Amino acid sequence: MIYPITVYGEPLLRKVAKPIEKDYPKLDQLVKDMFETMYHSDGVGLAAPQIGLSVRMFVIDASAAAEEEPELDGFKKAFINPEILELKGDEWVMNEGCLSLPEIREDVARPEFVKIKYLDENLDEQIEEYGGFAARVIQHEYDHLEGKLLIDYLSPLKKRMLKSRLTNISKGKVKTSYRIIIPGTKK
Ligand code: NI
Repeated sequence: MIYPITVYGEPLLRKVAKPIEKDYPKLDQLVKDMFETMYHSDGVGLAAPQIGLSVRMFVIDASAAAEEEPELDGFKKAFINPEILELKGDEWVMNEGCLSLPEIREDVARPEFVKIKYLDENLDEQIEEYGGFAARVIQHEYDHLEGKLLIDYLSPLKKRMLKSRLTNISKGKVKTSYRIIIPGTKK
């Protein structure tokens, strides 16, 4: 099932998401649906709050970037109840986008490496370290679970410059190739 995407202005995107309990119903199906929704909307990552669920999980498929970073070959993972254990390395800047901020792309500086503990889709605990693009996407998606968005990293001036576009997004006045939930409406 392909879910519509929550966008800027949706209060749930600003909430700290709740951990997933062991007996969470139909978790397998949720993982599948999140990948399907992500592929449908051409995203590299998708966090549960972006489909209107305030729970701690996100999915990433960065395998398309394997041409530039061979270690990303086959990088397709679900991260359940992730916990960032360590961020290290120099910050580097990359132009980021977000399905919840359609048509907005901004430079964001993030540390190069991340060490993360999480449950995989079989609920087995993993502790892994990532660098480069994978570390960036992980940090971006993890932010969604903390109620954070990439615009929070921008200078006050940059934010002011985006204000009218953000207002438009929150009213649903934005073009997307995927279905969105207009804030304040029920899907
Ligand atoms: Ni995002």
